[in-house]
Amino acid sequence: MNPHAECPAETTTLTVSLGSRSYEIEIGTGNLSRAGKVLAAFKPVSLAYVLTDTNVQAHGYADKVASSITQTGMRIQTAVIPAGEESKSLQQSGRLWNEMCSCAFPADRQTVLAAVGGGVAGDLGGFLAANYMRGIRFFQIPTTLLAQVDSSVGGKVAVNLPGAKNMIGAFHQPVGVLIDTETLQTLPEKEYLSGLGEVVKYAVSLDAGLYGFLENNTEKIRGRDNAVLRHIIAECCRIKARIVSEDERETAGKRILLNYGHTFAHAFEVMSRYTLPHGLAVAAGLICAAKTARKAGLVDDNFVRQQTALHQALNLPAEIPAGFDRSEMFRLMRLDKKTESGVLRLVLPTRLGECRVVEGIEPAAFPDA
Ligand code: NAD
Ligand code: GLY
Repeated sequence: MNPHAECPAETTTLTVSLGSRSYEIEIGTGNLSRAGKVLAAFKPVSLAYVLTDTNVQAHGYADKVASSITQTGMRIQTAVIPAGEESKSLQQSGRLWNEMCSCAFPADRQTVLAAVGGGVAGDLGGFLAANYMRGIRFFQIPTTLLAQVDSSVGGKVAVNLPGAKNMIGAFHQPVGVLIDTETLQTLPEKEYLSGLGEVVKYAVSLDAGLYGFLENNTEKIRGRDNAVLRHIIAECCRIKARIVSEDERETAGKRILLNYGHTFAHAFEVMSRYTLPHGLAVAAGLICAAKTARKAGLVDDNFVRQQTALHQALNLPAEIPAGFDRSEMFRLMRLDKKTESGVLRLVLPTRLGECRVVEGIEPAAFPDA
């Protein structure tokens, strides 16, 4: 039976098409309590191993998921990691793998790991699942806007090395994604804005229709209106599902386009010693990329003005963060994974809703402010 058949009317279900590894993304409001039912449909499931972080647990989301799993009669174990990027580590992975195989009901090949939380729980949970017994299934239940529009879809899973982000990882697709916009109501404002940075990225670089929707709904977006959020998350997931289906491993020149603004953002994140949330660094990076595209003659002044105005209306960074060393920024940008043989490759906009990879742009073309 299709577990999404009984969804509330305002629920959207999308498919990431990857042959036998295809999966569904369910987007709704108040649907966290359906987690058990959706998970049970991945049968056979010997054990649901729920991974969450301390903040998400404090808000009761993991308990809600756990009780819906228990109601189905499934066996369950819960593991809690400290909230924060530091948990995406090999050390934390080792601790959890040991726990998974030594707990009262050890995880086996029919276990499904359910990651309940933001991108940290999702990336770590996926990494654990990709490697435990050479790969078990995992289910994404993202509770931050960033994870709902980006990290929970597409199967990029990883942990960090002390000096290098996402350095050890894999492509390991989840078996499903369950999104409840209600969880966003408790998200700290800084984290909410971080997710909006990724939303604007999709709109500017890949979907002019979504861009217009954002411009026309800034007040409701700032107010976290559930209906508006469902629409935005569904549109972002639709774009990501299409791109992942066409270019799962970023080898066909399509998935790379999801990196608009990210080369600049990566430098800002490192320079802030990761105190700047990823999506806020992306928002600043989008403005840098737009201004660089203007200098390179790819877009006009109006494009930059329009994007800046949207950032301001959404309370997103609308200029280059102050106090950053420009030459250090260029050095860090060259460490970007897209760099090939020392040649910087930037994703730059060509018009609203369209972008392309541009090679060999030199620092002189970067904006001053
Ligand atoms: P996060 O998981 O650290 O969550 C941000 C904060 O919000 C944490 O303190 C968390 O405890 C808290 N939180 C989560 N849900 C909450 C809720 N509903 N209410 C209140 N608090 C809540 O960070 P994130 O921004 O979700 O994700 C960032 C991570 O995602 C980074 O590690 C980044 O590398 C990764 N990422 C991965 C991909 C991918 O494709 N795999 C894409 C983008 C980012
Ligand atoms: N967040 C970029 C990607 O998933 O490819």
